[in-house]
Amino acid sequence: MEQLMRNTLLKLSRSRRAEHLARRFGFRLGAGRFVPGESLEDAVRAVEELHRRGLAATLDHLGEFVDRPEEARQAADFCVRTLERFAGLPYDLYLSVKLTQLGLDIDEGLCMENMHRIVARARDTGRFVRIDMEDYAHNEVTLTIYRKLLAEFGTEHIGTVIQAYLYKSADDIRALAPLRPNLRLVKGAYKESPSVAYPEKRDVDENYKRVIDLQLQSGGRTAVATHDEAIIAWVKERVRELNIPQARWEFQMLYGIRPQLQESLAREGYKVRVYVPFGEDWYGYFMRRLAERPANVGFVLKSLVKS
Ligand code: FDA
Repeated sequence: MEQLMRNTLLKLSRSRRAEHLARRFGFRLGAGRFVPGESLEDAVRAVEELHRRGLAATLDHLGEFVDRPEEARQAADFCVRTLERFAGLPYDLYLSVKLTQLGLDIDEGLCMENMHRIVARARDTGRFVRIDMEDYAHNEVTLTIYRKLLAEFGTEHIGTVIQAYLYKSADDIRALAPLRPNLRLVKGAYKESPSVAYPEKRDVDENYKRVIDLQLQSGGRTAVATHDEAIIAWVKERVRELNIPQARWEFQMLYGIRPQLQESLAREGYKVRVYVPFGEDWYGYFMRRLAERPANVGFVLKSLVKS
């Protein structure tokens, strides 16, 4: 039953018609729990609030799968504006971007041009940009673009994400290791075929530990992005055993998910970064958060009743 619900929610996350309907209800659907607002100033307020609570941030201006070049250029302009808005501010902050939002499905050259503009601005303002990993269809091309940008800008300014549900991820980490990459490791959020991804949660969790272990020992930087307390406890132990200094790794969690856990880890002295999505295009992101935990649908229904 839960699997059916999860699949339905993931299918709805790609449906333009469902999106159109959902957007009419706006934040009344409960999206405000996972997305602090639609404007850049909403994002600034969220980052300030996290900073006060001892938490770093990564900002994601929501949007994905654009199909017109102007939209992709506008998305890149917005990333540049965001970097400029934060220039000189004392927050520990970087940007997370999606290549399909920057034109990957239209033309790889256009996407590369947009990324180049964003990462150059990040370098000039002393920031870092992480390329989020999307569905399997975009996996190889994302890694190729990442490698090209890495060759030009270096690990201080560009990183990407590896998804533990994919069978290929341990090999990807081994192949990238000589470059000492800055990688965020996640379980994976998209609906994938069993021909490319572990269908069972137990196997994903096991492979997650395997890829974390490989990356911690690669000499690069590691962001362990999960709310899974068993994995978090295991990572604390493993970094101690391997003697990995805090400067080389951090925990990451999503805005609005397990906020007390985020704060308690920060109080214990761990570096914790919160992923803050913002913007009008919140629908696909919101639906994936519901799919991760179908019990969340209960809270959407409650918000509808309350509104
Ligand atoms: P798991 O799903 O096992 O959840 C563990 C526990 O966390 C649950 O029992 C529950 O308590 C809590 N929890 C998890 N999700 C919740 C939710 N939606 N609502 C309420 N509670 C929830 N994926 C991807 O494919 N590409 C990417 O680039 C990224 N980027 C990214 C950045 C950051 C900072 C994070 C934290 C996550 C991602 N992800 C991602 C998403 C990731 O792949 C995964 O889908 C989610 O993190 C959920 O998995 P967990 O590791 O939390 O474990």
